[in-house]
Amino acid sequence: MKYDAKDLALAPQGKDRIEWAESTMPVLRMIRKRFEEEKPLDGVRIASCLHVTTETANLMRTLKAGGAEVCLCASNPLSTQDDVVASLVEDYGISVFAVRGADNDLYYSHINASLDIKPHITMDDGADLVSTLHKKRRDLLEHVIGGCEETTTGVIRLKSMEEHGVLEYPMVAVNDAMTKHFFDNRYGTGQSTIDGVLRATNVLLAGSRVVIFGYGWCGRGVAMRARGMGANVIVCEIEPVKALEAVMDGFTVMDAHEAVKIGDIFLTLTGNISVIRMEHFNAMKDGAIVANAGHFNVEIDIPELEKVATGKKRIRHELDQYTMPDGRKINLLGEGRLINLAAAEGHPASVMDMSFANQSLASEYIVKNAKILEKKVYSVPDEMDREIARLKLESIGCTIDTLTEKQVKYLSSWEEGT
Ligand code: ADE
Repeated sequence: MKYDAKDLALAPQGKDRIEWAESTMPVLRMIRKRFEEEKPLDGVRIASCLHVTTETANLMRTLKAGGAEVCLCASNPLSTQDDVVASLVEDYGISVFAVRGADNDLYYSHINASLDIKPHITMDDGADLVSTLHKKRRDLLEHVIGGCEETTTGVIRLKSMEEHGVLEYPMVAVNDAMTKHFFDNRYGTGQSTIDGVLRATNVLLAGSRVVIFGYGWCGRGVAMRARGMGANVIVCEIEPVKALEAVMDGFTVMDAHEAVKIGDIFLTLTGNISVIRMEHFNAMKDGAIVANAGHFNVEIDIPELEKVATGKKRIRHELDQYTMPDGRKINLLGEGRLINLAAAEGHPASVMDMSFANQSLASEYIVKNAKILEKKVYSVPDEMDREIARLKLESIGCTIDTLTEKQVKYLSSWEEGT
């Protein structure tokens, strides 16, 4: 078995933490049990590029239980949990290529190492593995029957590939399942982003002005949780309907040029590039805190900041303080990488339970439907999505009502009115 790990001696700690996560992943546990019996992924090679966390470890165990040969690499250089890598290799016999803090070359060499298994299925978070496969490893395309994508940014990239006619195999947009983005993007990102900011700074949110860039599912979640901790939340959004929604959700909405003058903490969750740039840094208050929770580290224009700043000092774990020419200090968290994974541990297991149930079932779906799927981006089938919600409800002991026959008839009729 091949791997690249920082230190295999970390395995015992990793195993304890993987099992701790497993305890709040009941849906994935049920799927794993069925996979052990039915082996729906027998002989299937899966190259996965995901954040290497305790939750991902449980997904890898599930795929392996289904009979797959899996190889995991990191989807972000700063999200890898080295003890999890060690345990996956030592305790679960799974190939992993991931080292926290990897530079760009190492990051891509790990993606290539994962692709070396000649995957039938790719499982990506952000589409770096898919893009490497399409750009540099085209000889491997003949083996691939399909892929699953975990995140909004990745799905946007895949849809762009489909539109440009360059997508070479079918994809399932796991992100777009209701049981993924309603929960993971909103409650997962909502909580873990605040967690990351607090671990990196230990500032008091109550009474502070928190500026959220982007009011998608992730931005909504963070805005909601920041307000819950007593922050005055300001939303900056370019899409009018979303901006209006933020207004009616009770947030202050204004353009970035106004917001940067009064904010204390700035968080980007847009999926776009250079959202916070020099014109914004120039207007920020002394001591402003800036972090990103979007997939890539391009939302904050760090190269510009590096160019203009007269000094840079690491003040705390994951907090770099830049000195501006006029003496103001700007505090950048997590090197502009996903703060919830760079400074905290990502989303809690109980929400990743549903995201990774989707990944597991999407892999099974690809195997079963390989012959009929085209080179397109597919949604997760509705029944699968609802089944995951049903299992999650069951696991928390929550029962819900079913329609009576009379109600079913009423809903499918058009004759009855006032
Ligand atoms: N993305 C966000 N949180 C995560 C987690 N805990 N594990 C894997 N991917 C994630």
